[in-house]
Amino acid sequence: MMMVLELFVSPPPSVARVCMLQNSFQPGFVANGDYVIGGIFPLHYNQEMPDLNCTYRPTPVKCNGFDPRAFRWAQTMRLAVEEINQSTELLPNYTLGYKIFDSCAYPLTGQRAALAVLNGQSEDDTVMCSSASPLLAVIGESGSAQSIVVSRILQPFRIPMISYFSSCACLSDRRKYPTFFRVIPNDDYQVKAIAQLLVRFNWTWVGLVRGDHEYGRFAVHGLLRELQGTKVCVAYQEMIPLLYDHQRAMEIIQVMRSSSAKVVVVFSAEGEMTPFLRDYMMQNITGIQWVASEAWVTASVFTGSEYYPYLGGTIGFGIRRGHISRLSDYLQTVNPQMYPSSLLVKELWEALYGCSPSLSSASKLPPCSGQESLLEQHSAYMNTSSPRVAYNVYKAVYAIAHSLHNLLLCQPGSGPFQNNSCAQSNNIEPWQLQYYLQEVIFNIAGEEVNFDVKGDSVPYYDIINWQRGTGGNTEFVNVGLFDGTKPAGEELVIQEDRIIWAGHQSEVPVSVCSASCPPGSRKAARRGEPVCCFDCAPCDSGKISNQTNSIECTFCPEDFWSNKDRTACIPKKVEFLAYDSLGIALTVTSVVGACLTLAVFAVFFYHRNTPIVRMNNSELSFFILFALTLCFLCCLVFIGEPTSWSCMLRHTAFSITFSLCLSCILGKTLVVLAAFTAARPGDNMMKWLGPKQQRVIIFSCTLVQVVICAAWLIDAPPFPSRNTQYERSKIILECSVGSSLAFWCVLGYIGLQACLCFVLAFLARKLPGNFNEAKFITFSMLIFCAVWLAFIPAYISSPGNYADAVESFAILASSFGLLFCLFAPKCYIILLKPEKNTKQHLMGKEKK
Ligand code: TRP
Repeated sequence: MMMVLELFVSPPPSVARVCMLQNSFQPGFVANGDYVIGGIFPLHYNQEMPDLNCTYRPTPVKCNGFDPRAFRWAQTMRLAVEEINQSTELLPNYTLGYKIFDSCAYPLTGQRAALAVLNGQSEDDTVMCSSASPLLAVIGESGSAQSIVVSRILQPFRIPMISYFSSCACLSDRRKYPTFFRVIPNDDYQVKAIAQLLVRFNWTWVGLVRGDHEYGRFAVHGLLRELQGTKVCVAYQEMIPLLYDHQRAMEIIQVMRSSSAKVVVVFSAEGEMTPFLRDYMMQNITGIQWVASEAWVTASVFTGSEYYPYLGGTIGFGIRRGHISRLSDYLQTVNPQMYPSSLLVKELWEALYGCSPSLSSASKLPPCSGQESLLEQHSAYMNTSSPRVAYNVYKAVYAIAHSLHNLLLCQPGSGPFQNNSCAQSNNIEPWQLQYYLQEVIFNIAGEEVNFDVKGDSVPYYDIINWQRGTGGNTEFVNVGLFDGTKPAGEELVIQEDRIIWAGHQSEVPVSVCSASCPPGSRKAARRGEPVCCFDCAPCDSGKISNQTNSIECTFCPEDFWSNKDRTACIPKKVEFLAYDSLGIALTVTSVVGACLTLAVFAVFFYHRNTPIVRMNNSELSFFILFALTLCFLCCLVFIGEPTSWSCMLRHTAFSITFSLCLSCILGKTLVVLAAFTAARPGDNMMKWLGPKQQRVIIFSCTLVQVVICAAWLIDAPPFPSRNTQYERSKIILECSVGSSLAFWCVLGYIGLQACLCFVLAFLARKLPGNFNEAKFITFSMLIFCAVWLAFIPAYISSPGNYADAVESFAILASSFGLLFCLFAPKCYIILLKPEKNTKQHLMGKEKK
């Protein structure tokens, strides 16, 4: 009751028992009736800051900036009341009265208006303490901040109020605002709709601007909540101060200008938007796509052509429009002649025509001619084509009338109150009306009106787009709707092709922090920045991303690898020593080698009776040539796709043929050595090295290798394997040795034989004779050893297919080495120098 005390200074008991009304807050419009409802409208945009000293009587409120739009709303309330009074169906035997006050769009003045509504104009009206309330309900207020204050004042008296424009979600709290109703949807739906709009147009980087009031605060809060978990990030949040401050506004504009967020969502109303937009336009900034909240998306103040370059393309959710058939006519009846004493009408004329209708006034405007007539062009006032807020006012009045009607229809004994009682028609308590309001359900022009438990109404919005009309001014075009009663996901319906965007563009503006990452890359978060700002990191090789804006690159399945763009997995390349250029070269060489060996064989066979062939142990030579042919040929097993057979064959064939070859050479060396040592008297080495023994030696030496190979094949045979380790983008088909011990044993054995040959041949190299074979054997073994020593490191460090190539190469090289060193000199003599092919010459005894 503090507030009431503020205005009624209760006199000490000794003075008088009457209340003295201290205030002089005059209503804008009044009409008497059986039941009076209050109306509070922001007939002015703002007011001069009041002196809030509270120790003396407050000075009269001084408001600035007449708002024709709110004036229209007030007129709509009057029209509705008049319609109801004329109606023979609704409240036939009763009349409605009203008291309409101005809140100047300011909470404190709204509070004063609320008190004035309660109190009546003079002490005579102050009957509230004795009988029923002089006031049944209040229609108001516009801004949520004001509604909150008004609601708090009305609460103790349990007077219901219906707001036509207060959408703040905070007002849905029935415990805090038990008597509050509204005919506008709760902002929770609006922020949901805006969030869906942002997501829909891929605006992931947006700025938020709001006014300094409950509406802005809760809406931004709600929007942030809705945006959580979506891909939309907020670039900045700014607040236009309650008391407009140019400096601060410039700071905000600077933020808007420098940000890469081109979409700005604004929760604000004309009051603060007007000066802000003026400053904004002065800066000549373009390219901002405004998303307007319902509070200003249909504000006709901004329809002037000067606004279009800056505000054209604005999109937002407007409250549902309706049709009031008599509104236009009714508004036209208002003129200074009809209301000579009304200050508000005077102000309306001043605002619309820029002239002063009364001569007495102290205004600086020129006097009006009296011929001025209201036309559609005065859109701020006369815009009646699609009333939205005015329609809400209209619905609110009808809601009260219908409730009252229902209340009066109550049959005693079957009423809703205690003991089934009804309200007394001459003494209706406001809370009784509230009961009926809560229950009311009626139709206006086909639209059903009712309130839910929280006093809210159906969530339905039009999507409004600001487009250029004829004459350069702005037109509010309906481009879709949001129906909150539809199941999730189907609420938003947009006709995208009809939208004109900021800058008179038909393409959807882009507002992102970072452009999306193409397939083949992934988002890489930037430290300390919102998730919408990211870099694009190309996927590593072996990983792909096939969608734009992938968060992660995914590994390709086994046997697959990423393509060059990292957008798809392709089967890995399979590599082995195939019949490509290298393979063919090796094949040809080995075949040539084999043919050459056979040719030598043929030459030797043809000349088998010449001394050079006979002397050098022809049988062993043929063995060696046979073994060499095999050596050349076993190189072929290394070429081609490895199979389990070829793998097993590879090393075994090669090792056995080489062993055979080396055994023969060893045998030969031994024979040479024995032959010469036997020449010395008393020795009989040759006896031990007859052809039979030679065969045994060859056989047994080779057998060792055969045994090793057999053991290898039985225990851990080589097998084909896929090597993905060496190069991850390829599958290398190779033969796994199965047992490396066996592999190195085999090689080691060959090495051992070679070394033995070398040592023995080395010992025999100085022995006499023109054709001492030991020299050639030494030489061949040197080459052989060199080749295989070089082979080992090369083999170890080469991957799969190249290791095979290296091995084939070593086989060919050493085979050729043996072939040339052992047989070239003899062939030379046989074919080119047959005269030297004599025993004498060969024994070196010729010259003697
Ligand atoms: N829906 C807004 C609200 O609830 C509408 C509004 C009217 C408004 N007057 C305002 C918003 C003044 C901000 C300031 O508040």
